[in-house]
Amino acid sequence: MTIVVAIDGPSGAGKSSTARAVATRAKWNYLDTGALYRGITWLALSEGISDPHKLVEALIDHPLIFTPDPKSPTLVCGNVDITEAIRSTAVTDMVSEISAHAPVRRALFDVQIGIIKDAHSGIVVEGRDIGTIVAPDAQLKIYLTADLEARALRRAAELDQDQLPSSEPEVAAQIEKRDEQDSTRDVSPLAIAEDAIMIDSTELSLAETSQRIWEILKGRRLLGLPIVALLGRPNVGKSTLINRFLGRREAIVEDTPGVTRDRVTYECEWNGKDFILMDTGGWEAKPDGISVGVSAGAESAMQEADVLAFVIDAQVGALDEDEVLVQELRKMKKPIVLIANKVDGPREEADAHALWNLGLGEPQFVSALHGLGSGDLLDRITKVLPEIGAAQSQDGFRRVALIGRPNVGKSSLLNILAGANRSLVDDVAGTTRDPVDELITLGGSIWRFIDTAGIRKRANQQSGTDYYATLRTQVALERAEVAVVVLDASVPISEQDLRIITMVEEAGKALILVMNKWDLVDEDRQITLDREIDRQLNQVEWAQRVNLAAKTGWHRDRLAPALRTALTSWERRVPTSRLNSFLGTLIAATPPPVRGGKQPKILYATQASIAPPRFVIFTTGFLEGSYRRFIERRLREEFGFPGTPVQVSVRVRERE
Ligand code: DC
Repeated sequence: MTIVVAIDGPSGAGKSSTARAVATRAKWNYLDTGALYRGITWLALSEGISDPHKLVEALIDHPLIFTPDPKSPTLVCGNVDITEAIRSTAVTDMVSEISAHAPVRRALFDVQIGIIKDAHSGIVVEGRDIGTIVAPDAQLKIYLTADLEARALRRAAELDQDQLPSSEPEVAAQIEKRDEQDSTRDVSPLAIAEDAIMIDSTELSLAETSQRIWEILKGRRLLGLPIVALLGRPNVGKSTLINRFLGRREAIVEDTPGVTRDRVTYECEWNGKDFILMDTGGWEAKPDGISVGVSAGAESAMQEADVLAFVIDAQVGALDEDEVLVQELRKMKKPIVLIANKVDGPREEADAHALWNLGLGEPQFVSALHGLGSGDLLDRITKVLPEIGAAQSQDGFRRVALIGRPNVGKSSLLNILAGANRSLVDDVAGTTRDPVDELITLGGSIWRFIDTAGIRKRANQQSGTDYYATLRTQVALERAEVAVVVLDASVPISEQDLRIITMVEEAGKALILVMNKWDLVDEDRQITLDREIDRQLNQVEWAQRVNLAAKTGWHRDRLAPALRTALTSWERRVPTSRLNSFLGTLIAATPPPVRGGKQPKILYATQASIAPPRFVIFTTGFLEGSYRRFIERRLREEFGFPGTPVQVSVRVRERE
């Protein structure tokens, strides 16, 4: 499946440089659709043709051939290389007018579709109407913009010295006019696709802008890099190993205590091979004495990964929990690399040989602490690594978990949502539990609803213990990006409802609360419900609520906009400069409370990750929980994160 990234936006927003940077990094193709419009404008000028139909006919003898190489895109018309010529002032002045003609757009539409179809693994396409008209099914749509002044400055700097006009106000006037023409024309004007991510590059460098897109691609698993899952009990030294793998390029950021660690991914490179290392965090082996294997995080990591790297503390040896995990790992039928960590000397090495008994082949000895053996280990991992990750076959549809306690109406909601729109059911390969996802069209986009077979089954036969229901919910949550938690609005909010909501929060997923059975809510109930919401749901005040009646379908159209808003917040990134100027003002007005006679100083903050937004504040001392929550609240007020949890953690730096 070809990944298409659409980048639209006004002139000078940095589309070309960004698109080329992303395409180069991903080894994908690149299509500059503006170049095609410039090309046909060049043809009009050089042949002296003004009639759009005649112009399109002229394309037969003078076809436009674009080479979609991000490193050196070229455009040939007939047999003339016009790569440079299309940047002339004459072409620039005419292009908006020419590109507004419907026959011209139709002809170039076909050219664009042809280039997109020919791309193998992926293509970044930039223009004005890519996300809306040319590639409405693009897996990622970006709307890149910037202030007029910033755009004019960039364009003026780009223009040749001898090209006029080149002063910034003149360029500003020129692009403003072009934007106006491009956005007000009748046929496919410059427009923001509903599901586009808006990036304002006014204060961002090219590197920051492309990194932002890269991070989203990575988060949505659209990059196609193979995944190595790092599995093992807590404290076997996984984090030290990761630091070794990364060569300390990226420090590991501690998570807020009490927040379950989601799978954290790192990009690694070894001998020219790129891969994603997925840290699964801790796991419990035998909860409640039931002999089931692994935590949800580890389980879904195992399913997504291409290679399973299993770490054992050689100084402790293989424990019962490890044996349970070995069985789970085997079921995956994927390459397994057994890592004996903490082999810090000859004595440990002798003990570590016992790990042959696990039947996973030769244990790879490493001392993460001393860095011994990590090169050999990486060699071994990269040897079994496939070229392209299996998870890339993910289609890029946003993943939704529909969850809630029994009898709240999940299956009727699913039915009414799917209804006639039930596009197709596909089995997700390689899963042990055989979950079935469903692709559902809502509000103009396709969404992947996760493990809906479970919902159907659960509706009529309350199979399994609470434990299994919880586990299943957790696995669905791990795979999802956003959770729709269904509540029965006609009865009091229960403990179980709250537990499920907490699970979503802890998994770090976006959240929507559906108040179902609204048809049964009368005035009295509404009053008590308001009170319950105030008291019990205040911890997730940020979640959007959708009042809905699954039975009749009332308000079901409210779900898609809510999903979009929540996902937008979930992937939002606040530029470091804005974050720190905001924080500076906030601290000046309300400094952190004094503790033990000392006032902790806040040094700076950074957004460590998106999905969900995670902020790390570097300080000289401990910050009270209440002050952290205060910061979180103000962050939300300032930047707005409706629908997503926001995590704020603190790292104390020793004073130099
Ligand atoms: O991106 P650019 O400045 O090279 O684009 C040149 C012109 O082409 C722009 O003013 C509008 C037009 N264009 C368009 O109409 N649709 C596109 N998809 C791309 C460009």
